[in-house]
Amino acid sequence: MSISQTHAKPHTPAPAASAPWARVSARIYDPFLYLAEVIGMRAARKALVEQATGRVVELGAGTGLNVAHYPPGVRELILAEPEPAMRRRLERRVRRSSREADIVDALAEQLPLADRSVDTVVSTLVLCTVEQPDRALAEIARVLRPGGKLLFIEHVRAESPALAWWQDRLLGPWRRFACGCAATERRSS
Ligand SMILES: C[S@@+](CC[C@H](N)C(=O)[O-])C[C@H]1O[C@@H](n2cnc3c(N)ncnc32)[C@H](O)[C@@H]1O
Repeated sequence: MSISQTHAKPHTPAPAASAPWARVSARIYDPFLYLAEVIGMRAARKALVEQATGRVVELGAGTGLNVAHYPPGVRELILAEPEPAMRRRLERRVRRSSREADIVDALAEQLPLADRSVDTVVSTLVLCTVEQPDRALAEIARVLRPGGKLLFIEHVRAESPALAWWQDRLLGPWRRFACGCAATERRSS
């Protein structure tokens, strides 16, 4: 087991809330997701992440809920997480696991990785929070080697007009509560 910390070039802060709220958010993240994890999200993470191979970078790794699911075929695991409070929890989770990983302070929009150097990019519930998703997608395309894989689970605006209406009404408070999550602003079309 090892954790190495790499700090990428200085970047503009994520559109996150204040540092105290970011700390609270990191603390309540796992309990808040607990029910969703139990009723299906954990199984979905496992099914997704089991497809990872070779050199893998996970974007916005959060508290590390995917870490346990990486298969032995993963030769190198890089966990990118820009939020310090989340990163501390991620470090703790990696330390307690048998998984070796490099934990990197990096935004998805600015990955400290060479072109075509990665076999798999993993992104779960991240692009909703990323301020510049187009730049993040360009970075993913840049770092993936030809034939590499992008594995993702993301959430978007509902197709049901009734649900989408509620999402629109709740966007402001939800965005403040969930540290910038604005998936519902982005149309799924
Ligand atoms: C909803 S959490 C998802 C955490 C984890 N991927 C999961 O599946 O549980 C969103 C994560 O994205 C991170 N994040 C926010 N802005 C980011 C950015 N620009 N680039 C990469 N990660 C970002 C947040 O700090 C947070 O850890």
